[in-house]
Amino acid sequence: MARAGRAPDPPPGKAARNQAPDAKTVLVLSGPNLQLLGKREPEIYGKDTLGDIHGRLAAMAGERGARVDCRQSNHEGELLDWLGGAESDGFSGVLLNAGAYTHTSLALYDAIRAIPIPVVEVHLSNPEAREAYRHASRIAGACLGKIAGFGGNSYLLGLRALLDHLDARR
Ligand code: DQA
Repeated sequence: MARAGRAPDPPPGKAARNQAPDAKTVLVLSGPNLQLLGKREPEIYGKDTLGDIHGRLAAMAGERGARVDCRQSNHEGELLDWLGGAESDGFSGVLLNAGAYTHTSLALYDAIRAIPIPVVEVHLSNPEAREAYRHASRIAGACLGKIAGFGGNSYLLGLRALLDHLDARR
């Protein structure tokens, strides 16, 4: 619920126009098949849709005087383009659930290393407690840290950790 004297939170994926121009903006990227959240193996990934999670992220960011821009793609190249442009597009950090590309993509690892802003890896499930082929993350070594295993809450915990990190650096 919006507090008195404060504009309502922006809809997911849209930055608020009335916040301080120096407000931190976090890019939230979700990779392949995550558009199906809510319907996709709910016993593993939960019942929240990606839209539900984006709404909660926008609310939390608003509470912290920050904002989020939430995007999803099934295409590795599009995720690479968004990561590569993140700093020049004005983002302070990135929250990334790379889906199955987590376990395969050297290109995403390189893209994360190539940008000077922090990237936090998030997963709804705990890949290390699942099939052996999910145990290794190709991107973890390039990320600031990782939050996994808390369902949609992993994104919120990841945003909190990233904003705390950015605030501490000021
Ligand atoms: C996931 C875990 C990956 O192993 C899987 O391929 C996904 C989702 C997660 O959020 O738990 O697509 O990233």
